[in-house]
Amino acid sequence: MCGIIGYTGSNCVKDILLDALSLLEYRGYDSAGIAVNEEEKKKTEIFKCAGRVSDLKAICDTKQITATCGIGHTRWATHGGVNDGNAHPHQQGKVTLVHNGIIENYRELIADYDLQDVLRSETDSEVVAALLNHFYQGNPGEAIRKTVSKLKGTFAFVILFEDQPGVIYSIRNVSPIVATICKEGAMLASDLTALCRFTNEYFVVPEYHILELHKDCILLTDLQGQKVEPQMLSVDWELNSAGKNGYPFYMEKEMMEQPDAIRRTIEGRIMNGLPDFTGDGVPDELFTNCERICVVACGTAMHAGLVAQALVKSMVHVPMEVELASEFMYSDPVIDEKTLVIAVSQSGETIDTLEALRYAKRQGAKCLSIINVKGSSIARESDYVLYTSAGPEIAVASTKAYTTQLSVFHLVVAKMAMLRGAYTEKQAKAFVQELQRVPEVLETILEQRKDIHVIAKKILEAKDLFMIGRGLDYSILLEGSLKLKEVSYIHSEAYASGELKHGPIALITRNTPVVAAVTQEKIMSKELSNIKEVKSRGADIVLFIKKALAGDLHQEYQLIELPDMQDVFMVFPTSVALQLLAYYVSSDKGFDVDKPRNLAKVVTVE
Ligand code: AGP
Repeated sequence: MCGIIGYTGSNCVKDILLDALSLLEYRGYDSAGIAVNEEEKKKTEIFKCAGRVSDLKAICDTKQITATCGIGHTRWATHGGVNDGNAHPHQQGKVTLVHNGIIENYRELIADYDLQDVLRSETDSEVVAALLNHFYQGNPGEAIRKTVSKLKGTFAFVILFEDQPGVIYSIRNVSPIVATICKEGAMLASDLTALCRFTNEYFVVPEYHILELHKDCILLTDLQGQKVEPQMLSVDWELNSAGKNGYPFYMEKEMMEQPDAIRRTIEGRIMNGLPDFTGDGVPDELFTNCERICVVACGTAMHAGLVAQALVKSMVHVPMEVELASEFMYSDPVIDEKTLVIAVSQSGETIDTLEALRYAKRQGAKCLSIINVKGSSIARESDYVLYTSAGPEIAVASTKAYTTQLSVFHLVVAKMAMLRGAYTEKQAKAFVQELQRVPEVLETILEQRKDIHVIAKKILEAKDLFMIGRGLDYSILLEGSLKLKEVSYIHSEAYASGELKHGPIALITRNTPVVAAVTQEKIMSKELSNIKEVKSRGADIVLFIKKALAGDLHQEYQLIELPDMQDVFMVFPTSVALQLLAYYVSSDKGFDVDKPRNLAKVVTVE
C-alpha cells in the first residue's frame, strides 16, 4: 500500500524524502513523487513519475532543491492507471497533498463542487486536493475540517499549503500515520520503517485529529480545535535492523532471523517453565471464560490461525473457527460476549482484519490481537495484545512474522489447556520445553538450506505445482504454497491429500511436480497412500518428511528430512523449509524476491 513521508526541519529535505521512500518501497507501489516547499521562492514544487524511487531520484538529481520542508509518496494504484499524472503529490491551487486510502464518494464530490474542469488526473486523491483548495481561505485547520466532513472512506492525508511555508499538516481515518520530533526536525510517515533511522520515539496520529509539523514543534488538535498531547511510544527495533545486513534480499535475512525472533518472542512469557502472560497484561479469565474462539486474519496470518486451530481442537477441545477477515463480516458469524476473537496481523494495519475486529467488538466479543508492530491500529483497538518480537519485516512475503505468531499461539494453547484442566502442569512444562527447542531446530534446517536449494532448481520451470498433505501437514502446506506462488509466480496449490481423488487428481499428469509433507505420525500411512496415487499417475514427487518417519523411503522418493520434533511442533521446521524452497525458486528465476509484482506489504484497502 501507499507509502508516505513528510519532513520539516533545518536539513535539505530532498535526500531525507528519497531515502525514506526507498525504505517504504517494501509496501508495494508503482509510482513515486515528492513536493518541496521552497520558502524563499514562496512556492511548492512537485517532482513525480510512474516507476521506481530510483527513477524519481534521477529526476530530482537534475534539479536545484534547497528546500527544508517537503512530503513524499509511493503510490499503489487504486483509482486511475499507473502514469505520471496519477502519481502523488497532487496540487490544486495553494494546496498540495499525498494520500493513502480510498475516498468512496469522490465522484459525488466532483459533481457537488463542480470540480471536473480543474482535475488533471483520474485519482480520488486529487479531488480532495481540489476540495481543500475550494475551502481554503487562509486557515488550514478550517479548510481541513470542512473537507473531511464531506468525505466517505479511508484516508491519511499529508498536506502543504503554499502560503504556510515550512509547515506540514496531516489528518487520518483508518490509514496509518506515525510522527515524531527529533534533533533533525519533525517527521511523519505511514509506518515506522521510515522513521526508525532517526529516532525510536514516536506517536500514532489519532484519527480525526489535525497534526501540524513545524521544524521545532508539533501541534495536535482535535476537530473542535482543542490541543491534544501526543501519546509517545518507543520502538525496540535496532535502528540498523531495517537494513539487509549483507543479504541479497530482506526475505533471506528475515528467514535467518527466525531463531532469534522466536527466542525474543517467547522469553519473558515463560515463568517456572510455564506460559505466563502477566507481563502482557492478559488475564487468565480471557482464556477460561470463553466458550468459543474465532481467529480473524488474512494470508499468512490466517495460516498461523489454522495451525492454532489444530492445536486448540486436539489439546483444549474448545470450538474454534478461523475466518478470512475479508469474508468474516459477510458470513453472519456467530459472535457474542462468550467468544474470544483473536486478530492476527504482522503490520497491525490490514484493513480487512481491522474491520473484522471492529465488527466482533460490536457483537460484544473480547478481542486479543497477536501483532508485530507496536501501537498499530489493530493493537490499539484490541482489548489485549500479545506482541511478537520479530522486528521489522520488510519482505512482502511474511516469514519471521509467521513463525513468531506460531510461537505465541503455542504458548496461548498451552496456557488454555492448563487453565481448563486439559493439561497438567507437568504436561504444560513438557510442551513449553519442546517450544524452547524450536530456535535450535530452525538453526539446523537453515544450515541445511543448500539441500533445499537443490530441490528448488528442479521446479524452476514448473508452471503448476501441487502440495499435498493431511491434517496439520495440510495447514502447513497452505502457507508453503502461498509463499511459493507469491514470490515465484508458479501456480501452486495445496490440497488435503485425501481430497485429491474427489477431483483434483484429474490434473496430475506425467512429471507434474508434487511437494508432499509427512510430519504427523498418526496420519502417515494415509498420506503415503495418497502420495502413491499421484506417483502412479506420473507425478514428480519431493517428500518433506520428519526424519524419524523416513525409514527407507529415500529408495522411492527424493526426500528432505526434517529435524525431529513432537508432531505438533513440526510446523516450525517444515514451514521454514518451504520458505527456503520458495525463496530459492524466486531468486534463481531472477525475480525481485522482496517486492513481488502486484503485492503490497501492508494492505490498507478492502
Ligand atoms: C504473506 O506472505 C503475505 N504478504 C500476506 O498474505 C500477509 O500475510 C497478509 O496480507 C496479512 O498481513 P498482516 O499480517 O500485516 O495483517
